[in-house]
Amino acid sequence: MYGKDLISIADLSAENVQGIFDLALKLKANPEDYCDSLTGLTMAMIFEKPSLRTRVSFEAGMTQLGGHAIYLGPSDISLGKRESVPDIARTLDRMVDIIMARTFSHQSILTLAEYAEAPVINALSDLLHPCQALADYLTIMEKKEQLRGLKLAFVGDGNNVAHSLMNCGAKTGVSVTVVCPKGYEPNAGIVKAAQEAGKALGAKMAVTNDIDEGVKGADVIYTDVWASMGQEKEAEERKKIFAPYQVNAALMAKAKEDAIFLHCLPAHRGEEVTDEVIESEQSVVFDEAENRLHAQKAAILRLMFAEGDLD
Ligand code: CP
Ligand code: NVA
Repeated sequence: MYGKDLISIADLSAENVQGIFDLALKLKANPEDYCDSLTGLTMAMIFEKPSLRTRVSFEAGMTQLGGHAIYLGPSDISLGKRESVPDIARTLDRMVDIIMARTFSHQSILTLAEYAEAPVINALSDLLHPCQALADYLTIMEKKEQLRGLKLAFVGDGNNVAHSLMNCGAKTGVSVTVVCPKGYEPNAGIVKAAQEAGKALGAKMAVTNDIDEGVKGADVIYTDVWASMGQEKEAEERKKIFAPYQVNAALMAKAKEDAIFLHCLPAHRGEEVTDEVIESEQSVVFDEAENRLHAQKAAILRLMFAEGDLD
């Protein structure tokens, strides 16, 4: 049973996650089979932050499923400023069938979900980026033909993407190590919960400041920007602190020989990753970006339809 919303992968069972992947692969192979699935249905897309992949993949995804999406940018509704989040949720609920939101505060997503009866999808908050992680593990599954037993090393800031990668690792049997400078570790509560949840499938969650130890034996090397949206003022200071954690050819050589490289994008080339790595044979970043479309179409359908109505 899927919940009403997609706020965190921690709320999904391992079977739910696998169900999203199975449907995503069907959607990817035969998109025409689902082109009328959402006829007459509308998604509201709330953005407090910029986006390329998330906006385009959700909007194109809704079109491909026969529905429609409405973009509501930062200056359109000014979440919590022009109008309160509960009032926005209850108004949208009278007009649309599904709500997607990219916010600063994670609480805004929780409040939208609380006040809207329509499903709410977290399209990135300061705490989590579940849609990204679903696309990432789908990509890893395609490239490695399995998930359980793999090791992913996330090198960089213990941020929203790192949190969702841990949550999804726990549900797919992938061990995740976050390799970060001191003081930039992921949220301890999320790490602990992922450690607990991962036990069922043998996935181990770890955090280290030691690059050699963290990257050793990794099947997947993942990085993200050093300063996330909203942290622009810290960018210069972070450049110095994170410099030793750059994913370059020397760092890739410490992982498994057949390791693949992932990045949620946008990338700051020359900072968290070198051109050489992101353009290398090991890099799968554009397959990963494409999978945002397929994974999210699957997640939308899983939220909108009862199990069994789709398969
Ligand atoms: N990876 C990701 O969410 O990209 P955008 O910020 O461009 O949506
Ligand atoms: N951690 C980044 C991810 C962007 C997709 C941010 O929040 O800006």
